Amino acid sequence: MIELRDVSMHYALGNARIEVLRSVNLRIPRGQSVAITGHSGSGKTSLLLLLAGLEHPAAGSVVIDGLRLDQLDADALADLRRDHIGIVFQSFHLIGSLSALDNVALPLQIASRRDALKRATLQLERVGLADRMHHYPAQLSGGEQQRVAIARALTHGPKVLLADEPTGNLDDATGQGIRELLFEMNAQSGTTLVLVTHDPDFAARCDRVLGLHEGRLQELKVAPKAAIQDAISV
Ligand SMILES: Nc1ncnc2c1ncn2[C@@H]1O[C@H](COP(=O)(O)OP(=O)(O)O)[C@@H](O)[C@H]1O
Ligand SMILES: [Mg+2]
Repeated sequence: MIELRDVSMHYALGNARIEVLRSVNLRIPRGQSVAITGHSGSGKTSLLLLLAGLEHPAAGSVVIDGLRLDQLDADALADLRRDHIGIVFQSFHLIGSLSALDNVALPLQIASRRDALKRATLQLERVGLADRMHHYPAQLSGGEQQRVAIARALTHGPKVLLADEPTGNLDDATGQGIRELLFEMNAQSGTTLVLVTHDPDFAARCDRVLGLHEGRLQELKVAPKAAIQDAISV
């Protein structure tokens, strides 16, 4: 379960204050798929960064599986991310000096997993990059870099995947493949999906669609499955 409790957030720029979230409350039960929509600058990326503990609220708290992120020290927060959360950033954040394979294997190697290279290879195959393993990020197209970032986020089997426009740079067929992969993980492993997307088809397949507008989250669609889950879990 992921919760936002009365979360407000702003950025300070000189004397100006940019209000991003205003007293937002949200509960995402385990295994749910949630699409976040909203116009550019509405705060979608900031919301994902909050859920990952990479940004901090000015007020309120972010709670993951009963743990208040503001009560964890930096090490505990890093452990939580390493073990349970996968993040696909809008700008990918790949390491330029490492091959695709090493980028994907790195989080597993940091976690001292002996099967790091094997798992990374499998994951790159699943995103259709079997023949690009030894390329460096600069030698890959935007869409290929995005798929490396997705493989890296999924390789440790996270409970929660946070993805910022994961199919934004992909052509239709490749985007479709990534969508299938994400929903397969959701169905088979119960991975909670929180996705920022502008793709209406992608959003429509999620259990819930939330709209972010002027600092507030609005529930735009709750699929019957999600409604039933909510009713059971309350
Ligand atoms: N590090 C930052 N410092 C100051 N302002 C920021 C920063 N990051 C984002 N913003 C501003 O906060 C608002 C929300 O940004 P963002 O979360 O990136 O929106 P979105 O992902 O929906 O496009 C925007 O107006 C943006 O300019
Ligand atoms: Mg963004």
